[in-house]
Amino acid sequence: MNKDNLDNNTDKVIRFIDVTKSFMGREGRHVVLDGVNFSVPRGKTTVIAGGSGQGKSVTLKLILGLMSQDSGHVLVDGQDVSRLRGESLRRLRTKFGVLFQGAALFDSLTVYENVALPLRERIRLKGHEIQERVMSTLNDLELAGHENKYPAQLSGGMKKRVGLARALQLDPQIVLFDEPTTGLDPLMTSEIYDMFSRNQDHIGYTAVIVSHDIPKVFTLADQIVILNKGEIDVFSTPDEIQHSAKPYIQEFYEMTMNHDNSHDGNRVT
Ligand SMILES: Nc1ncnc2c1ncn2[C@@H]1O[C@H](COP(=O)(O)OP(=O)(O)OP(=O)(O)O)[C@@H](O)[C@H]1O
Ligand SMILES: [Mg+2]
Repeated sequence: MNKDNLDNNTDKVIRFIDVTKSFMGREGRHVVLDGVNFSVPRGKTTVIAGGSGQGKSVTLKLILGLMSQDSGHVLVDGQDVSRLRGESLRRLRTKFGVLFQGAALFDSLTVYENVALPLRERIRLKGHEIQERVMSTLNDLELAGHENKYPAQLSGGMKKRVGLARALQLDPQIVLFDEPTTGLDPLMTSEIYDMFSRNQDHIGYTAVIVSHDIPKVFTLADQIVILNKGEIDVFSTPDEIQHSAKPYIQEFYEMTMNHDNSHDGNRVT
């Protein structure tokens, strides 16, 4: 990764500047992000890692303007997301392809209809063009033959793949994927990562991926952001993580390196 490029702000698609986010709980105020700073380089893949409850999903929600920070700024292409309303917020969101944790499919729509939805809603395409695009993505994700099923008839891993197919329909400039491979077997996980690489070469999008698939995800990541107790650390190589002087980073590294993801097969959250 060329560090010089990162110093130029136009190459930073997303910037967090002194961002603080907390929630009120029964035991008082819980600070999730405590004045964090990081940026997401254009056309690259940033992986967000960290233990459960450390603010990974909250970070994605701030980027999309689904939540507002308490203080600081979240900029997307230089625009302060929390200041956008109505049409300008809607326009900002059209830049994104999003896979929420848990896939969030429409239960009353088939696989085909779920994937075709963004195409029908957002751009004028002819029927056969929609069909070609949807079927080609379903093929890529090994979902061909399942297009007439409903979400209730699918396994957790299949639902994830349908969610991914939907997120990729509009050739988004920025993709935000929250645990895209949780619940998938190791082979499918590798295939999904290969597909991300191919897609990124082809479409050139900026990717922000929340993932526990360490070390597998390193092959994809240009930058790794680790969240822990309100703080953030940014790394560009696995080596940097391994040699970090911070004990919790060491712990995290050892824990994730020793963790076999295939035992996690049922965990689709
Ligand atoms: N809407 C909300 N209201 C109150 N607390 C919230 C809300 N959203 C998130 N939190 C709290 O913020 C913290 C961070 O949540 P977040 O969902 O970002 O965790 P995460 O890192 O994505 O964890 P996981 O790996 O389990 O998905 C948690 O303590 C959570 O309970
Ligand atoms: Mg989460």
